[in-house]
Amino acid sequence: MVHEAETARPTLLGDVAIVTGASSGIGAATARELARRGATVVLAARRVDELEAQARAIRQAGGEAIVIPTDVADASQVTLLAERTMATFGRIDVLVNNAGAGWSKPLASSPPDDVIGLLEVNLLGAILLTRAVLPDMLERRRGAVISVGSLSGRVAMEPLYSASKYGVRGFSLALRRQLAGTGVSVSLVSPGNIDTAMTTHVRAAMPQPELVATTIADLVAHPRREVVVPGRHYAIAWLEQVLPGMADLAYRRRHWSPVKEEEPATWTS
Ligand SMILES: NC(=O)c1ccc[n+]([C@@H]2O[C@H](COP(=O)([O-])OP(=O)(O)OC[C@H]3O[C@@H](n4cnc5c(N)ncnc54)[C@H](OP(=O)(O)O)[C@@H]3O)[C@@H](O)[C@H]2O)c1
Repeated sequence: MVHEAETARPTLLGDVAIVTGASSGIGAATARELARRGATVVLAARRVDELEAQARAIRQAGGEAIVIPTDVADASQVTLLAERTMATFGRIDVLVNNAGAGWSKPLASSPPDDVIGLLEVNLLGAILLTRAVLPDMLERRRGAVISVGSLSGRVAMEPLYSASKYGVRGFSLALRRQLAGTGVSVSLVSPGNIDTAMTTHVRAAMPQPELVATTIADLVAHPRREVVVPGRHYAIAWLEQVLPGMADLAYRRRHWSPVKEEEPATWTS
């Protein structure tokens, strides 16, 4: 996997991969893609029926998959996910931190428990699960941790969602430096709007989740600091970093309206 020879379609044969948020959208597509490339996939999320349906589809296509229902906002369930995977397969080669939720409510009217809950799902869950799988990866000097951030972790948009995704980005980039030379790679994928349940309110053509899934699967064999998908969004990420005042103007032109209750943002990626 990580140090595999260059091939057009790298094989993940024999790898054990955990994918969180595998019951739908990007996570489900990623589980299918990893299994298609030969990995045994552990599907984790809360909705058991959806997870089972995804696992069945993978098995019917000739792949290997098991389901471990997990709420990543619950630290004890996160620990159990890693422990049960180790007990079943004896190792974890790939972790995809993908589980996440969107947000569109103005901060002033967001209940504190909901604020905490969003950060637990989008950020803390990824940190705690990574912490749980690392000892085995480090001992074997082999592993790939891939987290799903967002363009909202490059460009400040919805305050709470951006806070969680800037957090995921900071975590991933810093962990990559901490683990340099250990044999464990750390990569981040930062998608713009993708056509999933999270973006049903967006009225625009969007890429399908398979675009992100393919990128994630490629990152197992060819780790990178960060990949923004689709690539055209590098322009706005660059503008935000180099000319944030111009980015303010671009944001205002696109989104300008006073903050209103119950009005979903048009750009929550
Ligand atoms: N779609 C986009 O435009 C876009 C853009 C940038 C980044 N992203 C990120 O991509 C990731 C996947 O989102 P998606 O677009 O594929 O949306 P989605 O179809 O709604 O998938 C979200 C997944 O996260 C899981 N999840 C939510 N809360 C969870 C919890 N507490 N514990 C475990 N799993 C949980 C859901 O499963 P259960 O409900 O079954 O638990 C579901 O499988 C998220 O991190 C999102 O922030 C999406």
